[in-house]
Amino acid sequence: MLGVLVTLLQALVFTTAAAAPAIADDSSAAERNVAEARGVVTQFAGMLKPLLQSEIQAVGPVNAIHVCAEKAPELAQTLREETGWHIRRVSLQPRNPGARPDVWETEQLRQFAAERRAGAAPSELNTYLLGADTFRYMQAQITDGLCLLCHGDSLDPAIEHALQQRYPEDKATGYKLGDVRGAISLSKRVAPVDNDAVGSP
Ligand code: HEC
Repeated sequence: MLGVLVTLLQALVFTTAAAAPAIADDSSAAERNVAEARGVVTQFAGMLKPLLQSEIQAVGPVNAIHVCAEKAPELAQTLREETGWHIRRVSLQPRNPGARPDVWETEQLRQFAAERRAGAAPSELNTYLLGADTFRYMQAQITDGLCLLCHGDSLDPAIEHALQQRYPEDKATGYKLGDVRGAISLSKRVAPVDNDAVGSP
């Protein structure tokens, strides 16, 4: 009976691992962090998009710009306090100059764009890095029809004007449906690996 249970449990564990092939070969610490990061991304995107949608419906896209400009960083800050994850949005063509990617992020964004062109699904476009004392995670953000109102190639003149006023260095237009617009980039401090501590009482 116990044997059957163990086999069942093992089957469960392996099924779960098989569902996430990107992390199957990594340590359980990495798996835990990836799972946590995915949860935070889901929360962040899951709150931001409906907010943007309802604001556009209520007051139009020009007046919804503040959701992206102010609500997004506010939400990121709230989630940081709740979860310990630092959250930012980055893009190879940033609207906000503060969204310029660093070296690692640039590399991942280029990779996401290449994979997307080769037909990868949005859910596959994520990656992680376990550094000496930092864990990083990125999830690509893909444009849908809503995004193109403010990031597409033929903007309503009122939106174009409002964006130019606020973001004179705006590079975040000209996107097509399904393009990689950017990514949500997460990082968290993790305990540094201390080899001396291994085996001590
Ligand atoms: C109402 C206009 C509007 C819509 C609709 C919109 N955005 Fe944005 N987006 C902005 C503005 C404004 C910023 C700059 C925010 C800031 O100041 O940080 C921005 C910034 C971003 C950034 C951060 C990087 C950068 O370029 O500064 C990402 C990623 C992004 N948007 C993705 C999306 C996606 C994906 C959608 C569709 C789900 C979307 N946006 C819909 C206006 C919009």
